[in-house]
Amino acid sequence: MVQKDVILKTVCLVVFMLQVTFIYVKFKPDIQMKFESNYYYNPRNNTKKPLLTLFTSWSEDKGKYICRNNTINNWNLLHENVVRILFTNDAALSYRVMSMGWKVLPITKVGTTGVPILKDMFYATMAAEDSLFYAYANGDILFTDGLIKSIKAVKKSKLGGARDLLMIGQRYDTRNVSKNEATNYYKLITAVKSRGDLHRPEGIDYFILKKTYPLHGFPDLVIGRIQIDTYLVSIAVSSSHSHVVDISKTSIAVHQVTLPGKKGVREGHSKQDTSYNVKLLESKKWYKRRGSTMCAPFYTKRSKNMTIKIKDRKTDMHIKCTENDKNKNKAND
Ligand SMILES: *[C@@H]1O[C@H](CO)[C@@H](O)[C@H](O)[C@H]1NC(C)=O
Ligand SMILES: *[C@@H]1O[C@H](CO)[C@@H](O)[C@H](O)[C@H]1NC(C)=O
Ligand SMILES: *[C@@H]1O[C@H](CO)[C@@H](O)[C@H](O)[C@H]1NC(C)=O
Ligand SMILES: *[C@@H]1O[C@H](CO)[C@@H](O)[C@H](O)[C@H]1NC(C)=O
Repeated sequence: MVQKDVILKTVCLVVFMLQVTFIYVKFKPDIQMKFESNYYYNPRNNTKKPLLTLFTSWSEDKGKYICRNNTINNWNLLHENVVRILFTNDAALSYRVMSMGWKVLPITKVGTTGVPILKDMFYATMAAEDSLFYAYANGDILFTDGLIKSIKAVKKSKLGGARDLLMIGQRYDTRNVSKNEATNYYKLITAVKSRGDLHRPEGIDYFILKKTYPLHGFPDLVIGRIQIDTYLVSIAVSSSHSHVVDISKTSIAVHQVTLPGKKGVREGHSKQDTSYNVKLLESKKWYKRRGSTMCAPFYTKRSKNMTIKIKDRKTDMHIKCTENDKNKNKAND
């Protein structure tokens, strides 16, 4: 009788162990990365406040299918606590990006030519998501885990508490980025090294800030048109105790170039309403030449042991960042 009981218990234990092993083996890939037909994502830990909400907007364009799919997959891999949002009023596009793990918000405020207004996208995102940081990035920009590491390093530093903290960076213009490269940081960095061109420090395609950032006085500039970056950065670096951090050295941003020639590198220039923001800013007095990553008073840098440090650039800032001639220079993109 006693023996029978022991055998029964042993059998039960073995069956149980086998079941646990089976479940573990079957679902283990889910814990790290999910691969489902044609998209990837890191599962989110919903109990943690997201570190970052990353948002953008684009409209349907067959010529950009690979580029958009790359962006979706690449942002999905960033980190478990990054929320991704597309602003669109296109129902079919909404459905497609939602089925790939993104959230969708409607476009409610646009300029007179129908392009979304950046400031209102920030406000709508802040109302919809509670995260530590918020970032707008152009819809053709890919990142690596350097982005998350840089944000975390800045957050931990003495700048982390600043209400007007703003993180920006340069980009690498890169053609023919494949799905394979977009979803593998190592391959993406290899692609940048072999065929990427570092864009001028005035072409800034993403802005990372907190809810406390002083956006209220900001004009209704629209995304994807020239001078939106120049103006935002110029105003930020011109404030007396500015907390702008250039994270280019520790976070690679890849601009997927999809059109041939120079046109592909500066797409905003080929739009009919290319000067929309320029016209809005005409009456304002501001320092155009300061709208550059070079004028950020702080930058991130990797130390020998690979930890990210925040450095102060104030002492050797370029002359254009401190001279006081307003509106003297040509428009930059
Ligand atoms: C999710 O985050 C919470 C809070 O930080 C943590 O306690 C929990 O272990 C995390 N869960 C997973 C699956 O990582
Ligand atoms: C991704 O690519 C497929 C075709 O391969 C296309 O149907 C789909 O619209 C693309 N996704 C986006 C968001 O453009
Ligand atoms: C990108 O692809 C096109 C078409 O396949 C090719 O002609 C071009 O040389 C490629 N460009 C780069 C930089 O690899
Ligand atoms: C890396 O080096 C910095 C100084 O450069 C030091 O403060 C930090 O503690 C080091 N980190 C590790 C993990 O060794």
